[in-house]
Amino acid sequence: MSETTENASSPTTSTPTPGPERRTALVVGASGITGSALVEQLTAADWDVLALSRRPASTPGVRGIAADLRDPESLRAALAGQAPTHVFFTAWQRMPTEAENIAVNGAMVRDLLAALDHAPLQHAALVTGLKHYLGPFEAYGQGTMPETPFHEEEPRHETPNFYYAQEDELFAAAARQGFSWSVHRSHTVIGHAVGNAMNIGLTLAVQATLAKELDLPFVFPGSETQWNGLTDMTDAGVLAEQMIWASTDPAGANEPFNIVNGDVFRWRWMWPRLAAHLGVPADRVVGYAGEPRPLEQQMAEHEAVWPGIAAKHGLAESDITRLASWWHTDADLGRDLEVVTDMGKSRAAGFTGYRRTEQAFADLFARYRADRLIP
Ligand SMILES: NC(=O)c1ccc[n+]([C@@H]2O[C@H](COP(=O)([O-])OP(=O)(O)OC[C@H]3O[C@@H](n4cnc5c(N)ncnc54)[C@H](OP(=O)(O)O)[C@@H]3O)[C@@H](O)[C@H]2O)c1
Repeated sequence: MSETTENASSPTTSTPTPGPERRTALVVGASGITGSALVEQLTAADWDVLALSRRPASTPGVRGIAADLRDPESLRAALAGQAPTHVFFTAWQRMPTEAENIAVNGAMVRDLLAALDHAPLQHAALVTGLKHYLGPFEAYGQGTMPETPFHEEEPRHETPNFYYAQEDELFAAAARQGFSWSVHRSHTVIGHAVGNAMNIGLTLAVQATLAKELDLPFVFPGSETQWNGLTDMTDAGVLAEQMIWASTDPAGANEPFNIVNGDVFRWRWMWPRLAAHLGVPADRVVGYAGEPRPLEQQMAEHEAVWPGIAAKHGLAESDITRLASWWHTDADLGRDLEVVTDMGKSRAAGFTGYRRTEQAFADLFARYRADRLIP
């Protein structure tokens, strides 16, 4: 681990010289659903924050770094003058096959950490997910599944998985460069982002808006198992809290941790409640009935009306493809297996973050409404 906690700010900024205890976070993938929650919490806690993505947002109090993780030379140049003490790695790119996911997403972790070999790094936290237990997209839920609730000590599947490749790059860099690490295995994330790859909250909000505007039923798209079985989810805020805890508390160092909200629910209980939060009349709420009805099929013919809905309500985004990730919500709610996650390990180590899932959705919908992303 690095001896120094000193922050070296970019010489080109006017950031005041920090005291020796000051921490500088580099949030990698800062505009994403996880990264943006981290940026919010770290700035609120008065960290110096560097926010890296290809198209950084301009956020007050945050230094944006525009860099492409797939271009190691320009990445090194972009980070040459920076001295983060803590890395929060939340970037990923979805590729057509898992072999390409492994090559691309593993290399992004490797090249980012290599480009920080000059930095006084103390800790790097990596977010992955429950595909660690369920298998990659192309072999999702296949083969022998671990017993639920999922525990961190489960052995890896034999199927290659980009999360394993990312972990291995993290472990190797931590050993080589002398910092501690943590891995955060998240279930489906409830959080605030636009134009990102996987966003169940905004997807359901857009489905509800189309249902209200076009007098359509609000149909649960998933499987009987998900409708009736117990499950859990992860609020981006509690994920960010756990990553910051593990990065700064010795009890969180050099361990993988599951991260979910801490409550469990059944979709047959949650679905009508979400409909009510989204203003869908109760008589339009339709549950599982005989077979999954994926949103990709339900919604395809209705997507073209979104620009008109956006104009009518003065919405901020007229491109529905930047709001709804039908494929991902279909995959999540369509699983034909129980997905429940054990939180005992990080609780025993001292992390007590908690969210009520229904409230996390309600707060998120209110925020999207305030942003004029939904009416
Ligand atoms: N979302 C979920 O429901 C969920 C659930 C479980 C696990 N996870 C896992 O959590 C991790 C983070 O996912 P997320 O959903 O938070 O991601 P996300 O919302 O899609 O955000 C990805 C971030 O990475 C940046 N990025 C992508 N490619 C980049 C590149 N080549 N160079 C620089 N920045 C790049 C993006 O910004 P630019 O496009 O501007 O570069 C964005 O800031 C992933 O491993 C994912 O599998 C997500």
